[in-house]
Amino acid sequence: MRLAVVGATGAVGHELLKVLERSSLKFSELQLYASPRSAGSTLMFRGQPVTVQATPEGAIPADVILASAGGSVSREKAPLWVKGGSLVIDNSSAFRYDDDVPLVCPEINGEAALGHRGIIANPNCTTLIEVLALAPIHRAYGVRRAIISTYQSASGAGAKGMEELLEETRNVLSGGQAGHQAFAHPLPFNLIPHIDVFQDNGYTKEEMKVVWETRKIIGDPDLKISCTAVRVPILRSHSEAISLDLEKPATPDEVRELLRRSPGLKVVDDPEGNLYPMPLTSSGEYDVEVGRVRASLVFDGGIELFVSGDQLLKGAALNAVQIAEYLQEKGALKTAASAT
Ligand code: A2P
Repeated sequence: MRLAVVGATGAVGHELLKVLERSSLKFSELQLYASPRSAGSTLMFRGQPVTVQATPEGAIPADVILASAGGSVSREKAPLWVKGGSLVIDNSSAFRYDDDVPLVCPEINGEAALGHRGIIANPNCTTLIEVLALAPIHRAYGVRRAIISTYQSASGAGAKGMEELLEETRNVLSGGQAGHQAFAHPLPFNLIPHIDVFQDNGYTKEEMKVVWETRKIIGDPDLKISCTAVRVPILRSHSEAISLDLEKPATPDEVRELLRRSPGLKVVDDPEGNLYPMPLTSSGEYDVEVGRVRASLVFDGGIELFVSGDQLLKGAALNAVQIAEYLQEKGALKTAASAT
């Protein structure tokens, strides 16, 4: 199986290589692509340098392409890659809402990936981190309404977002003023309730992605869900407060037990020991931390909880690789030999 990573030099690309190094995914060849700016540079993979190539105009000679170079690159090029015979696992939002493109979190709706027609969309990071906890609760108790507030790290804006947070924090600490480019305002010592563009309904696109994508992944187009998405001065890991109104009442103990049995999650919930999900502990980890599970004071029989997960890992690179692993386990990945 010939594997390609497009956007290999970016923040998610970097994590993709690290996840692939540890992955059980079998592939015979790894090709790395980025913009022409990076052509000729090398990245290390399993101790060997691999040369980065400029992303070609047309097809890429790979069976599977993990694309993480942004929406405009995917929108323009993914159809050409598919035409050339590749399966594209796309990390951008370009195709997520297309009816014929599966939107996949393998722990929840892996089987949807099997029906792909050349493109599989990797969900938005904020959705992935939330839906890992929401989906099992929905299955067991029926989520009637969900209200979500997010605390999202700079890594959501890619490598340049993380660099800007560090650089501008240094500026403030040395007596200067923080500037901004990647974000609408300076991020150090601030919060920005504005991620992606505002929509006609007053919500941002990031907030609506959580609504649209959660519905699509759990297969419930009528789920009532709203979100307030906030950028916080954290390098990586997104955290989210989730309030759930349930059809069948649940107790915190039952929900904690259910979440303990749910894949991709780590229950961290010992308030007396000061243990709860935090970016400090969830960064760099594959599992999404879930805790602060408690009975809702608003929704009778409802539940409140808090999640924190690495935006670059489960929120992006890890999920993309898990989709490929899932397909390979099911014998549904084309190989160079079977492609001919
Ligand atoms: P490059 O490093 O050469 O600019 P991030 O999300 O961290 O900003 O990373 C974006 C990734 O997408 C980088 O690997 C970047 O490569 C790549 N990229 C940006 N523009 C293009 C393009 N037009 N074609 C291919 N790759 C691109």
